[in-house]
Amino acid sequence: EKGGYDYFMLKEIAEQPKAVADTLLGRIDAAGSLTLDEVRIPASVLREIDKVVIVACGTAFHAGLIAKYAIEHWTRIPCEVELASEFRYRDPILDPRTLVIAISQSGETMDTLMALRHAREQGSKVLAICNTNGSTIPRESDAVLYTHAGPEVAVASTKAFLTQLVACYLVALYLGQVRGTKWGDEIQALVRELSRISREVERVLETMEPVRELARSLADKNTVLFLGRHVGYPVALEGALKLKELAYMHAEGFAAGELKHGPIALIEEDLPVVVVVPSPRGRSVLHDKIVSNIQEIRARGARTIVIAEEGDEAVVPYADHLIRIPATPTLLQPLVSTVPLQVFACELATARGNEVDQPRNLAKSVTVE
Ligand code: F6R
Repeated sequence: EKGGYDYFMLKEIAEQPKAVADTLLGRIDAAGSLTLDEVRIPASVLREIDKVVIVACGTAFHAGLIAKYAIEHWTRIPCEVELASEFRYRDPILDPRTLVIAISQSGETMDTLMALRHAREQGSKVLAICNTNGSTIPRESDAVLYTHAGPEVAVASTKAFLTQLVACYLVALYLGQVRGTKWGDEIQALVRELSRISREVERVLETMEPVRELARSLADKNTVLFLGRHVGYPVALEGALKLKELAYMHAEGFAAGELKHGPIALIEEDLPVVVVVPSPRGRSVLHDKIVSNIQEIRARGARTIVIAEEGDEAVVPYADHLIRIPATPTLLQPLVSTVPLQVFACELATARGNEVDQPRNLAKSVTVE
């Protein structure tokens, strides 16, 4: 059942190109427009939405953080992302013009379920992004967009995360389409890029041996830090979460711009720091800023592990270890930059003798608050 892999997690990491492609399947018509017929919230309602609120937990929350960048950039609708466990208890401002998106792999997470119930009581429409057919969260939502990752058995979420991202991009573009904030040809161009991504994920998977080697060499470390900017920031959070749950190491993700406001005090000789570098094309200001962040931490002794686009030469002098990912549009980069972090955490866990598929103290679906 593990299909020749030692762990479900390895199998599920390998299944990601297919999971991504399957989640796009049937949702793009021949002309390159989106046909999300399953989203049974009428276009007239979606046109009236004045705020999007995303609620989720853990890895799904990180997908939501990335979705915010895409939704606000592509649709200009303000978007908030909140941990489901915090949401309900702070008396959030919700009304019928708020679209709430609940992201959940299992569809049974109690915190997320309670958050969406609260939102519906306030009259908001709830769209679920979910991987499990007929589970509680989609049943209690107004509409559902299923991710087609297939069953995810390993406790640590991998392929479900990538498909959650795809679903979020689809929803963002769909909102742009029905509201007319993105024009047909722009949507088609982005959809074309999305359709290509599955092959790029595959290419990343083919080049992971050096990442595994690096992970093994760090097995006796206590701390690893992760830095990113823009959508690379939630990717850094996700890389740190994977390492905590699988390798039981102290791992933290930071927005690189926050370094000088505190975290830089943590940097010491030989401390591994993973940096997710945005594309040097697109928003090049971000890129230049992160290159100086890498210089700063390296000058203080950090061992820099740099994840950067192919062809990005500016990072080379400051990277103790360089992990290459294919060039993608800025907003889509998390689909490729997360993969090395999953492999890294999985291999470190193995090297430390941990149970990869069943980390201690964790359950696959958290059905208590
Ligand atoms: C991390 C992980 C958890 C889940 C979280 C939400 O690898 O698996 O953080 O992402 O418990 O679960 P779902 O998506 O089922 O609501």
